[in-house]
Amino acid sequence: MNSNHFSSLFNVRYPIIQAPMAGASTPEMAAAVANAGGLGSLAAAYSTPAQIAEMVARMRQLTDRPFNVNLFAIEFPPAPDDVSAALALMAPFYQELGIGKPERPSAGPTFEEQTRVLLELDIPIFSFTFGVPSPTILQAFKAKGTKIIGTATTVAEGKILEAAGVNAIVAQGSEAGAHRGTFNHPFEQAMVSTMALVPQLVRSVSLPIIASGGIMDGKGIRAALELGAAAVQLGTAFLVCPESSIPECYKKAVLNATDDSTQITRAFSGRPARGIRNRFMLEGEAHPEVILAFPWQNNLTRPMRNAAAKANNPEMLSLWAGQAASLARPLKAADLLRTLVNEAGW
Ligand SMILES: Cc1cc2nc3c(=O)[nH]c(=O)nc-3n(C[C@H](O)[C@H](O)[C@H](O)COP(=O)(O)O)c2cc1C
Repeated sequence: MNSNHFSSLFNVRYPIIQAPMAGASTPEMAAAVANAGGLGSLAAAYSTPAQIAEMVARMRQLTDRPFNVNLFAIEFPPAPDDVSAALALMAPFYQELGIGKPERPSAGPTFEEQTRVLLELDIPIFSFTFGVPSPTILQAFKAKGTKIIGTATTVAEGKILEAAGVNAIVAQGSEAGAHRGTFNHPFEQAMVSTMALVPQLVRSVSLPIIASGGIMDGKGIRAALELGAAAVQLGTAFLVCPESSIPECYKKAVLNATDDSTQITRAFSGRPARGIRNRFMLEGEAHPEVILAFPWQNNLTRPMRNAAAKANNPEMLSLWAGQAASLARPLKAADLLRTLVNEAGW
């Protein structure tokens, strides 16, 4: 499956996807990418059905091009019984930010209610990570004519997604920024780099493979296509665009990062994710036994992260970024897309 096949299947000019980035990408970013010929993505994983409807409506005002909406395909584990140690870890950070005392976290919107609204909205492309939706949900999207993209971090996961009937697979290498999409292994056993994962997935499944993780420029795009990828999905490269919703201190941390600035942590969300090391990450890593499961830990740390963002304090924010963050360029999303296209030689 080559890039022409990908472009015609998803009706885009260039096989470049702006990654859905919960907490960072915006309809403005996705529409700028879509209007410049790439595939723009909306990150809806943390959004309520009403917020999702609003986001999709905004996107439709800004572009008539196809776009992708992304969710986390998981069922929440039961609420934790005893959260006292987790609250105690958070308390000094809450205090420092002047936001009172941490409270028992709630669950937030479920995948089921989120997919229900997406089905009503008739979206062109649906992508997901962290798991595989039920056959009923996948069938319902297909019946609407929605194209489906799943996320794999290993060949075995790619085969599961192929058997589930998706149209394309994001191969998320271990370099990638933010959460690992791993759903079929202990995550430590699924840290396969983009360079290793892409050609093995290409050999093992007969769907278009979208290389993701550590790709920041035209050279990276060409390398991914050379490995057999039909398209690429870039996250960190778009983080520093003006259309990104992250605070200035986060953008600065991305631009000042070096190759060894990031590590995988559960401290912020309860799920392994790659971000730039900071004070809260190191504090959480020192007490792994008190970290709650996703989404409970994520919802417990949210007030701290929101307050830190407001205060432009990078030490208590999740600074999700990939291992090639230092190659990010602070261009407008459309200019970045055009630059990538030129560098790739199209
Ligand atoms: C800040 C941030 C948030 C992300 N949020 C999501 C998300 O909501 N859904 C998703 O499927 N992937 C998400 N990702 C992962 C990307 O889809 C992609 O795998 C990753 O960005 C690729 O690596 P790179 O950052 O080196 O380009 C996120 C990445 C970043 C950097």
